[in-house]
Amino acid sequence: MTSKAAPEAATPGIVRIYRLLDPRPDAFLGDVLAGLARPQKAVPPKYFYDDRGSALFEQICELDEYYPTRTELAIMRECMDDLARLLGPDTELVEFGSGASIKSRILIERMRPSLYVPVDIAEGALRTAADALAERFPWLNVSGVVADFAQPLVLPEFVALPVRRRVVYFPGSTVGNFTPEEALSFLRRVHDLLGPGGVLVIGVDTKKSKAVLDAAYDDARGVTAEFNLNLLRRINRELGGDFQLSRFRHKAFYDEAAGRVEMHLESTHAQFARVGGRRFDFAPGETIHTEISCKYAIEEFRAMGEAARFHTQAVYTDPDRLFAVYAMMAV
Ligand code: TRP
Repeated sequence: MTSKAAPEAATPGIVRIYRLLDPRPDAFLGDVLAGLARPQKAVPPKYFYDDRGSALFEQICELDEYYPTRTELAIMRECMDDLARLLGPDTELVEFGSGASIKSRILIERMRPSLYVPVDIAEGALRTAADALAERFPWLNVSGVVADFAQPLVLPEFVALPVRRRVVYFPGSTVGNFTPEEALSFLRRVHDLLGPGGVLVIGVDTKKSKAVLDAAYDDARGVTAEFNLNLLRRINRELGGDFQLSRFRHKAFYDEAAGRVEMHLESTHAQFARVGGRRFDFAPGETIHTEISCKYAIEEFRAMGEAARFHTQAVYTDPDRLFAVYAMMAV
């Protein structure tokens, strides 16, 4: 997917939003039908984020069991002086999967970038977050991009602002939601986007005990379960599906050998559901695979960066090494 818009003047306080979404009119339906037809049924995780899904995800980030968000925030606060020195002034800050843009506030406040470019697939969440940032930082230029960053992306040409360096911020261990192969090609595309001298600041969850990880993706209050099931709710509403939500249950577990969490929706009965005029049968216990979350030891992720021609300049972590933030320069 590529797009070129003519450069437009940036004005602090005025938020511009560019839409670079999948041009196929029935992308959601096509992806769901193709995914449900596979031997291991699956739906791509990007479809979690309708307005309700985005709101539920913000709730997940505040759960006791879900340590990554608060740990990453604490790391960012702690390393910000060092990071600001390393990145220097006059940056263009591009954030992938910006969601509510909570973590980016720390970077924006400290770095005062010439331009902030949040990129997210959830248009509603993106607009709300961009408007809130423009209000909070009246000096800030914001150009939001509605796009699927898992696909090749050419950013619009933004105005000529004093930019010395492009910085890509990719927090939340969202890179873990790619397979390692996808993550590597994603890093290579980020490298192209940055050009030599550009820096990727990326938050990545580390490997740790199964007990901690199982709880992080299957919380006691059932918010993560609700988030997962919301995918079926969305399919029912937007695609006229007839999934019975009470006959599916959230299933999440850490596979230690693979170093990744898997999330599924498990059919509790023999049943079928219809979507787009097609019928999909489920055996009891059969699942729809909805998400993976790969965990990386620091040395593993550094090596992946190197394979994509990034030089790791700094790794910031918490005392328990629950999470790591890397500053990687494209070489
Ligand atoms: N990037 C987050 C992660 O892998 C996404 C996430 C957290 C998530 N909790 C989730 C995705 C629950 C789906 C369901 O940790």
